[in-house]
Amino acid sequence: MKKSILITGGAGFIGSHLVKLFVNKYPDYTIVNLDSLTYAGNLENLKEIEEKDNYHFEKVDLLDEKGLEEVFKKHQITDVVHLAAESHVDRSISDPLAFVKTNVIGTVNLLNAAKTSWKKLDGHLFYHVSTDEVYGSLDDGGFFLETTAYDPQSPYSASKASSDHFVRAYANTYGMKTVISNCSNNYGPNQFPEKLIPLCINNIRNRKALPVYGKGENVRDWLYVEDHAAAIDVIFHNGTTGETYNIGGWNEWKNIDIVTLLCEIVDRKLGREEGESAKLITFVKDRAGHDLRYAIDAGKLEKELGWKPSLQFEEGIEKTVDWYLANEEWLKNVTSGEYQKYYDEYYE
Ligand code: NAD
Ligand code: TYD
Repeated sequence: MKKSILITGGAGFIGSHLVKLFVNKYPDYTIVNLDSLTYAGNLENLKEIEEKDNYHFEKVDLLDEKGLEEVFKKHQITDVVHLAAESHVDRSISDPLAFVKTNVIGTVNLLNAAKTSWKKLDGHLFYHVSTDEVYGSLDDGGFFLETTAYDPQSPYSASKASSDHFVRAYANTYGMKTVISNCSNNYGPNQFPEKLIPLCINNIRNRKALPVYGKGENVRDWLYVEDHAAAIDVIFHNGTTGETYNIGGWNEWKNIDIVTLLCEIVDRKLGREEGESAKLITFVKDRAGHDLRYAIDAGKLEKELGWKPSLQFEEGIEKTVDWYLANEEWLKNVTSGEYQKYYDEYYE
């Protein structure tokens, strides 16, 4: 059967890289991008492939059950890669219900649409793209493994953990073929500037304060977004159904060290005096319930499917800074409108 793959959240950060990869790499597949275009979804991210014959866009909300069913019927969807979500921890703290609606109810709606549309569940795959945050917070030692017990600590991670459980429940109860991957923090072009790295690059350029939560001691494991998309490609095609795969960069950084590094890189690229932007670093009130450390053991994915990160962090972060400095217009566009109010309230 010719593949017709529904990628949800394809106008967002990771989804747009995945859509571009699949549309270009698999001209025989039909790729349908379903996205409701929230503040985080931007079709500008997909300009380079929007005219391709094997690409289609459907503006549908995960909460619109009928709309989902129609998309499955219209495009004879054979497989799903589900990324659409509310994705920002700080927003989940101020509005948890929005995360329950999209991440939990939206995922169940999508599972139902797939179950209804796929008369025989064999031969179809429902791939859920999830986060390492479902495992909770680590102290100084150890790594998250696929067998680590779920222990979500924020409304965001609780909603993603819940959606993971629903995906597994549909596999167990109805025999749906599913796979889940849990990835560490991504960085790269097209990330909405509410997240640490693009927010800091943008603020450094505009000589605005760089808000570092608490003492900046929290640790994240960073992976270049195209490496994440490549991992999803490998798991989608070669992963074992029913399995979970952890994806990570083996690349842990304290927040303060990342922010300091970004100051150095931007100063160098903009010809500013050494140390100039570091003066913008401002320690602010810590995030409520702030997870101390995330760190992924991605050994299973490497051993079983041969994937490992291709890009060194030093190279990836230079590319990322270059992209944001060259795409001021993109930043202006995405931070106008609805987001502006949020930005003003939280960061000014
Ligand atoms: P993003 O916020 O950049 O994009 C989310 C996309 O989903 C947007 O295009 C938005 O319009 C769409 N969307 C939101 N609500 C919707 C709804 N109700 N109906 C239809 N579309 C809707 O997110 P991202 O950073 O690209 O993350 C994508 C996925 O990867 C998420 O599931 C996230 O949990 C997961 N993930 C992200 C990271 C990360 O570092 N960003 C790491 C691991 C896993
Ligand atoms: P973020 O990019 O929001 O991703 P996540 O919370 O999913 O890990 O934040 C990354 C880290 O940076 C996290 O420890 C919170 C911290 N942070 C700041 O210190 N200042 C900021 O302005 C933001 C957005 C995040």
